[in-house]
Amino acid sequence: MKTIKNILLGITLLIGFQSCYYDIEEQLYPSTGCNLTGVTLSSKVKPIIQARCYTCHSLQNYNSLGGNINVETYSNLKAEVDNGKFLKSIKHEAGVSPMPKGSSQLIDACEIKIIEEWIALGALDN
Ligand code: HEC
Repeated sequence: MKTIKNILLGITLLIGFQSCYYDIEEQLYPSTGCNLTGVTLSSKVKPIIQARCYTCHSLQNYNSLGGNINVETYSNLKAEVDNGKFLKSIKHEAGVSPMPKGSSQLIDACEIKIIEEWIALGALDN
């Protein structure tokens, strides 16, 4: 009886670990891979910031909800990028408040990659 239980436990663990492995999104859905071509502020980055950050950091809301940080105006956004806080905050790295505020989860991995690509290309106002 004990051996059967152990075998069952073994199988369960094996399946459990395998399903973790296969939960990698890009392996499950290769056709929806993260597209990093033609990344510009207006085409790909702004929609992400709009959806994820404007509730608190838009021109309208930053005073009351966004800790006085406005990421809608390009010069202000660029300043947050240049001081390193923007990327650190969305990657939940040490030294800054993790963003979006109140969420323990990172935003989508592809969204982070798109933002990193835009920054790597110079964080232009394009
Ligand atoms: C629910 C409101 C809310 C949302 C959504 C939000 N923030 Fe914030 N953010 C704040 C507040 C409030 C602060 C002020 C610092 C604090 O209270 O942690 C802040 C601070 C920051 C800072 C400065 C962090 C530091 O430690 O100096 C950055 C950069 C930032 N936010 C970027 C973002 C980005 C990028 C997003 C979207 C991915 C985002 N925030 C979404 C409320 C929010």
